[in-house]
Amino acid sequence: MNGRFKRFGTCLVTPSGGNGGRGPAFAISKVQSDMFNRFLLERFGLSKFTIKQITVAGRLGDFIGSRVSSLKCSGGFYEYFNLLKSDKNEFQMLADFITCKETRFFRAPDQFRLFLNVLTKIKETDPFGKRLCIWSAGSSTGEEAYSIAMLLNSDADLKHWDVKIFATDVADRAVEFAKIGAYDDNSRKRIDDKEFLGVFDGSTIKTERGYEIRKEVRSLVDFSVHNLMDDIFVAPNIIFCRNVLIYFEPEKVRDVLKKFYSVLPHGGFLFTGHPEGSSKIFEGDPSLKGFEYVSGSGSFLWRKPF
Ligand SMILES: C[S@@+](CC[C@H](N)C(=O)[O-])C[C@H]1O[C@@H](n2cnc3c(N)ncnc32)[C@H](O)[C@@H]1O
Repeated sequence: MNGRFKRFGTCLVTPSGGNGGRGPAFAISKVQSDMFNRFLLERFGLSKFTIKQITVAGRLGDFIGSRVSSLKCSGGFYEYFNLLKSDKNEFQMLADFITCKETRFFRAPDQFRLFLNVLTKIKETDPFGKRLCIWSAGSSTGEEAYSIAMLLNSDADLKHWDVKIFATDVADRAVEFAKIGAYDDNSRKRIDDKEFLGVFDGSTIKTERGYEIRKEVRSLVDFSVHNLMDDIFVAPNIIFCRNVLIYFEPEKVRDVLKKFYSVLPHGGFLFTGHPEGSSKIFEGDPSLKGFEYVSGSGSFLWRKPF
């Protein structure tokens, strides 16, 4: 992840509580706090646990306070809260503040190896008519989508296939950063798999800006802002949604999975992340009744059966 992006903004959603000795926090009442948390659930899917973590870390109250003051909201919290619902920029400032954007190239290499196996199978059986449409849902600053693009671009067998990657995130600053396609030296250092490091080197050009993604790789990816709480506008045959649903309330995870199921074709795949796999987030979930677990995949890979 690029250093310009914080992990969680630190938040305080408790009603006018203390803020770890940093001085007076912006005071919000219990009613206001409940309203705000409801908004975080409805518009970001955030679970009570995630909200609590953000709360404990401390500064949402300060964030709200600073927005109220910068916007000169004489109506205080309620004026800001109404603005949040109607003004895209305000919504984006909050999105940027509350989301965790931790990511890196070829994160969890075992999952990318699994992806390569899936790719081999797809090439053999061609279930999608030489069309590969992959969606990186919750793509953060782009490393996941570009890792996929690098692998597809270096596969000569796919030369005459129709290949596209859609990468979306709720946080527009992360999306804008991703579109540029230039990453600092640290991004390369964080790849701990030799084979994938070679793929990265072959797919980037070293410049004074760091590592720039080669044009032919960049052109495979379309980045856009999209909130998983909203309708889906892509028709992928593979979805990567890793390290995103772990922050969501179970009811919202179910909603998102239902949407994934409805847009995937039969035979389509869903890749989830380590946390989602190990937290048993999908286990026994009726919305996943349709998906079948691809055995031996370490609980990261699901398939909509034919
Ligand atoms: C921890 S990052 C994971 C990035 C990448 N998938 C990976 O595994 O490396 C989670 C991303 O999900 C995004 N996100 C969180 N809530 C979202 C939502 N409701 N809709 C779309 N993206 C969301 C965040 O902005 C963040 O960039």
